[in-house]
Amino acid sequence: MKKKVKFLIGRIKAGRLGEMWRQTLWIYQYARHYWLTMIFYTLLGMVGTVIALLTSLVSKDLVDIITGHQTGEIVKTFSIMIGLNVGTTFLNQISEYASTYLSLKVDSEIKADIFSKILVTDWESLTTYHTGDLLTRWGSDASAISNGILNFVPNAIIYIFRFVSAFAMVIYYDPSFAIFAFLGMPVSLLLSKTLLNRMVNNNKRSAAMGAKMSGFNQETFSNIQTIKAFDLIRLYIARLKQLQKEYIAMRLDFQKMSMGTSLLLSTVALLVSYASYGWGIYRVFSNAISYGTMTMFLSLSGTLTGTLHNLTSLVPTIIALTTSAGRLMDIIEMPREDYSQNDAVDTFFQTHKSNGISLSVKDLDYAYHNGTQVFAGASLEAHPHEVVALVGPSGEGKTTMIRLILSLMRSQNGTAELGAGTDTIPLTPSTRRLFSYVPQGNTMFSGTIAENMRNVKPDATDDEIIDALKLSCAWDFVDKLPDKIHSIIKERGGGFSEGQAQRLSIARALLRHSPILLLDEATSALDVATERKVLKNIMADEYPRTCIVTTHRPSVLNICKRVYAIRDRKCVILNEEEIDEMVRGF
Ligand SMILES: Nc1ncnc2c1ncn2[C@@H]1O[C@H](COP(=O)(O)OP(=O)(O)OP(=O)(O)O)[C@@H](O)[C@H]1O
Ligand SMILES: [Mg+2]
Repeated sequence: MKKKVKFLIGRIKAGRLGEMWRQTLWIYQYARHYWLTMIFYTLLGMVGTVIALLTSLVSKDLVDIITGHQTGEIVKTFSIMIGLNVGTTFLNQISEYASTYLSLKVDSEIKADIFSKILVTDWESLTTYHTGDLLTRWGSDASAISNGILNFVPNAIIYIFRFVSAFAMVIYYDPSFAIFAFLGMPVSLLLSKTLLNRMVNNNKRSAAMGAKMSGFNQETFSNIQTIKAFDLIRLYIARLKQLQKEYIAMRLDFQKMSMGTSLLLSTVALLVSYASYGWGIYRVFSNAISYGTMTMFLSLSGTLTGTLHNLTSLVPTIIALTTSAGRLMDIIEMPREDYSQNDAVDTFFQTHKSNGISLSVKDLDYAYHNGTQVFAGASLEAHPHEVVALVGPSGEGKTTMIRLILSLMRSQNGTAELGAGTDTIPLTPSTRRLFSYVPQGNTMFSGTIAENMRNVKPDATDDEIIDALKLSCAWDFVDKLPDKIHSIIKERGGGFSEGQAQRLSIARALLRHSPILLLDEATSALDVATERKVLKNIMADEYPRTCIVTTHRPSVLNICKRVYAIRDRKCVILNEEEIDEMVRGF
């Protein structure tokens, strides 16, 4: 017996219910900060129920007065009724405000929390999701939760309270009516059980579809130039229509299912109300109850069936809630980056900043999650006042090495550390604060040039910004712009040429004034003369900078202290002959 119970509990834990329970607990972490507002909202709902029941009572009295069963003051009773109705109207408004307040607060809190968690999630794991999918999860799923939290716990309590109190009133006046409260129950229960699985599927389908559409839209709008250039406008419109068709088919599918359910539930509600009508009329004729009591029962029977219906409809709410929670948990349960070394890195930097910081990578193995092995036993080092180059054909692993140095990914084996004298500190996400990075491709943000620069150094003066622009040879063109450093950069560097955007990107990195500078094909779009000038400027700077550049182009190699080439998944140092050969062969 004990074994059987254990087995059952085990199954529940492992199955859909266990999962839902885990997701509910997760939602609870957010909901619990707002328990006071929730209690307030619940109390309002309960007061509303009491007023509604009193209204039924008063209307019973009113009917009885009119039909002569009871002597009473008609004006007074009528006034009470009006008072109760007005009260209900105000109460509804207050309760609406409380619910809006609660869902806005929870929505912002969840979104801010998930936003910050997404930003510290391991980069490679995160890239398995399309940004459209991430956006849908962060936006729609978080909103589904904030709306649902309210709908669930307080409403469940309010509905149960409403059912129990209406039921108690029925029993008090005529227990024989109580049976009608339960007539609809078997159907509701049966329905909720069979609907559960279908609803889980529907929710998943709907979320996947949402992600697909938002991914499509986002990608289309950010690639309009390519779509036009390849004359794909018609194709993309057709694709949108296809997606819309799938979406409509899916929604209609859901609608059919909910139509079936609603039809069934409404039929049951009607049958129950006819039955109570019949019973009421019989009881009035046999003089067991008054007309007023009968009208009251009719309204109470509506309340009871309606509340049961509401309780059943909480099932889809909890399913939507937990599905959304599950989708957000997928993201935030991915491995997180470890920033615990921030203070240690700051101390390390303060101690050694005057002499500069070296970088050393030893026997590194790295394979991407999909199995692509890029490095096996790779080593390289770079020291202050040195420019070290990493060369190799496209796809050999130059960018991968930079990502490893930045701890965007973790190597499977080997050591990677910063050093100064005998002092060392391992490379972790915390050490990123000691790097300046010029990535491959255009990575400027929308805003002015100055805003982009101050993104990496908020307290930079205009003069400091101009100095950095001069070093990166960007001042040549910025100086000619009417708004100079306050000129607007559009999304992804729009409004500037590739080479100009690269120079801005280098200026941004130089402004940050970090001990280690990483340039990933950072000068690839510049003409040779400008490229040399930029690199010479960087070198001439007295700051004890350690600089690693990756490049296809040999023009840089002459000013490098060491040149590593990626061969057989290792970094090998090229001798002068090999470098000369590369320069000649270009
Ligand atoms: N996110 C990723 N997931 C899986 N494999 C990847 C990923 N990024 C790069 N790769 C693979 O790793 C290898 C090295 O890529 P990497 O971008 O480091 O090359 P690269 O030397 O910088 O090339 P390029 O000169 O074209 O910029 C390639 O074979 C590439 O297909
Ligand atoms: Mg690259």
